[in-house]
Amino acid sequence: MPPPRRAASITLLFAAPLKNKFIPRHPLFRYRMASTNAFGLKDASLVRTQGFIDGKWVDAKEGGVIKVTNPATAEELGTIPEMGLEETKQAIEAASTAFKTWSKTSAKQRHDILMKFYALMKENTDDLARLITLENGKPLVEAKGEHNYSASFLEWFAEEAVRTYGEVIPCAMTNIRNVVIKQPIGVVSILTPWNFPSAMITRKLGAALAAGCTAVIKPPPETPFSALALVELATRAGVPPGVINVVTTQANVAVVGREMCENPAVKKVSFTGSTPVAKMLYGMAASTLKKVSLEAGGNAPFIVFDDADIDAAVEGAIMCKFRGTGQTCVCANRIYVQSSIYAEFASRLAERVAAFKVGNGLEKDTTHGPLIHDRAIEKVQRHVEDALSQGAQLLVGGKRIEGPGSFFAPTVLSDVPATALVNKEETFGPLAALTRFETEEEVIRMANDTPVGLAGYFFSRDVGRVWRVAEALEVGMVGTNTGVISQAVIPFGGIKESGLGREGGHGIEEYMNVKFIAFGGL
Ligand SMILES: *[C@@H]1O[C@H](CO)[C@@H](O)[C@H](O)[C@H]1NC(C)=O
Repeated sequence: MPPPRRAASITLLFAAPLKNKFIPRHPLFRYRMASTNAFGLKDASLVRTQGFIDGKWVDAKEGGVIKVTNPATAEELGTIPEMGLEETKQAIEAASTAFKTWSKTSAKQRHDILMKFYALMKENTDDLARLITLENGKPLVEAKGEHNYSASFLEWFAEEAVRTYGEVIPCAMTNIRNVVIKQPIGVVSILTPWNFPSAMITRKLGAALAAGCTAVIKPPPETPFSALALVELATRAGVPPGVINVVTTQANVAVVGREMCENPAVKKVSFTGSTPVAKMLYGMAASTLKKVSLEAGGNAPFIVFDDADIDAAVEGAIMCKFRGTGQTCVCANRIYVQSSIYAEFASRLAERVAAFKVGNGLEKDTTHGPLIHDRAIEKVQRHVEDALSQGAQLLVGGKRIEGPGSFFAPTVLSDVPATALVNKEETFGPLAALTRFETEEEVIRMANDTPVGLAGYFFSRDVGRVWRVAEALEVGMVGTNTGVISQAVIPFGGIKESGLGREGGHGIEEYMNVKFIAFGGL
């Protein structure tokens, strides 16, 4: 049963008055004004503006707050506590205590709670999708897609919880029986990014809870509300106090992150974010040899061979490059097109991109939202300018869209040289950089010429080539003739400097220890 509607939204209105001009701009905001709910949710109690430790919503010890803004309007949405070392230690302590009992629940009990959590997510689709759009900026239809994806991890891991099978291994000695069991690893630190405010939490938390682990989550300061709403629903689903804890922070992120990786009570660190941060956390976790799952940056090649279905390839490139306005780690970053179809592909892609409707994700006809903040715009701008200075041609876009919010015009560049920055590092923005190639051998060499290897895509209708190229790409995930690969059931993750471990699929294993037991003296 939902708790009584408390004054979360009222507190929010008083604590952080919204500027008037934010309110009436769009008809969708009307019913929000009628309720006293600044976020316009049907269930205002899903808006949580505090951290969560040991089953209680709490403010920061020192009283500081972090302002969270809507990237489409640059207006403040609300605030969350600026927590620090002390709260982090408390959260870890609470998770350690809760582990003693949560780890002893049956797999079936955890399955049932996760399925309830899943059902609550589905019941609250509109509200949760709206929260994603408000804090991340992605269009509502994409937010609903993320929401579905996010919920699917709970369903998947509920089903995995009851299938953490062990093994019986025949022994060479007749008086011994070999048995292998799996046990939950312990307290898990979960650090997530803003590009999928909901799904990156459930992908980790779903697996952790299913395994019997407890968690301390640090959501990103840009998009904390989706995370906090999930915790509210988890509580309603029956997840006991201390099993999930949330520490919100921005200024103290270095000390909080360090504690989450170094505290001996934490047994596992699961992180999704940039490669430099992944390396730093890996180093910290090494101090106590914690198990880690690191899902770091990519620089995905997207290859179109001359035997491809060009319509499908254009469609795939649109999905793969511009979803989340180019802010996903599996986004195509380098688009290689074989020379005989290059001109046609480039002009078709540019035409489609020119027709995008960029705007506030709450508006019905918006196809693409803003970037997360102005710093993200600067990187895209730098990549565009660098490519142009090295001889690339601008086909569409190329500049910031003025006005409130962090918008950059979806951009297509042609004839981008291999030496351009965009071909060397992840842009994380709406920039499609096209490069021409002649042979399969040449494009595989270019595609693999990077220290990272998360996802790779290619379009071809030659079955021999499909196998060859899929095997040759140095990545953890390949999309052939599709620009969309993410699902809860697959092993998501990268090789090289894109990370360690796999999430989704059999990812529950990452949250369990394998224990061998020899039964002797028979
Ligand atoms: C989300 O899933 C529901 C079914 O649960 C489906 O009807 C809907 O179309 C999906 N939405 C998106 C955007 O994928």
